[in-house]
Amino acid sequence: MKKLVIGLALATLAVVSLLLYMSTARPDSRPASSVKVAATEQLKTRGAYLVNHVVACLGCHSKRDWNLFGAPIVGHPGSGGSCFNERWGMPGRVCPPNITPDKASGLGAWTDGEIMRAIREGVDRHGEALFPMMPYGAYRNLSDADTEAIVVYLRSLKRRKAEVEKSDLDFPASFFITLGPAPLSGPVTAPAQGKTAAYGAYLATIAGCKECHTALDSSHRPLVGKEFAGGRTFKSPFGEVRSPNLTPHATGLGSWNEEAFVKRFQAYRDQASATPVHPGKNTPMPWLEYAGMTAEDLGAIFAYLKQLSPVDQRIEVRPPAPNAP
Ligand code: HEC
Ligand code: HEC
Repeated sequence: MKKLVIGLALATLAVVSLLLYMSTARPDSRPASSVKVAATEQLKTRGAYLVNHVVACLGCHSKRDWNLFGAPIVGHPGSGGSCFNERWGMPGRVCPPNITPDKASGLGAWTDGEIMRAIREGVDRHGEALFPMMPYGAYRNLSDADTEAIVVYLRSLKRRKAEVEKSDLDFPASFFITLGPAPLSGPVTAPAQGKTAAYGAYLATIAGCKECHTALDSSHRPLVGKEFAGGRTFKSPFGEVRSPNLTPHATGLGSWNEEAFVKRFQAYRDQASATPVHPGKNTPMPWLEYAGMTAEDLGAIFAYLKQLSPVDQRIEVRPPAPNAP
């Protein structure tokens, strides 16, 4: 009997300490660097190109109209997105903050080092973990030079005072996000720019192609061996959509050539093509942003996708509605 009591007490103690640890755990982080980025016109141009057409930061950090194809940005760019909730497949409330240079509600009071750390290492100014909808895992690969360019461009956005609600995650997601962030351990460089598979690999990572076009396992980890084979599901209040297979198999991009690939993206360059669409037929793929990518960069991505191992996986992009006849 005594043994049972002691056993129970120990078990309770273990559970309580575990819960206490889980509620106070802090992510792995390092102090933000003291770098001060010297703003040059060249860096700003590079940053504008990356933010608007490659990494597509503003699509999340702005309000969008889901009744138009590609959900174009409406209102002040960068002043904060609408919160996502369970209906969007989120474990709680997730709100993309204001990243314009407003001092009180945006990034105006942040140092360059703090912004760079948030983008690539996944913690906010106070060292708290960011929910990984902010794709810092992919951005970790952003070179120092490209991250600096992004900071210069963000600082040039028109400031807008706009308080955005704070994210509020359910337990245990609120604990698990503290395990994501990890400090960088040294300088990050990118392959030389050009229409090469190596540079295409860099772009396909920082632009989120890999993240969105790879399915997740039951623990929300990307399926190993199925990179770029599609099948990731995007939930929204309007319905579900899945990403297609981008590997060079007949069920993927096997029959595409570079010209068709580039054309498909650049077809959305004309803003007039922002056509009304039922939100249930809309797409999370940032077509409108990518339309501004150069043919050379799209060519590099295509060159990279073409040399992946083909994966035989046919994806039904829009699964039939559950009650469909
Ligand atoms: C897929 C959506 C998405 C994209 C793309 C995205 N973000 Fe975020 N970002 C978020 C969300 C959501 C948060 C808030 C996370 C949280 O509350 O834990 C966030 C947080 C941040 C923060 C921290 C701000 C604060 O007040 O704590 C910064 C800085 C930031 N993002 C910058 C960027 C930049 C720069 C880019 C492009 C390089 C970018 N984001 C791309 C969704 C996104
Ligand atoms: C936010 C998630 C997301 C990101 C980021 C994303 N995609 Fe997609 N992509 C999708 C979804 C979902 C679809 C299917 C719906 C559609 O066609 O718009 C799609 C469709 C496509 C198609 C059309 C294929 C076909 O058979 O018609 C191509 C090509 C493509 N993506 C390539 C890319 C490339 C290259 C990148 C990176 C530059 C990328 N995607 C980034 C989600 C994403």
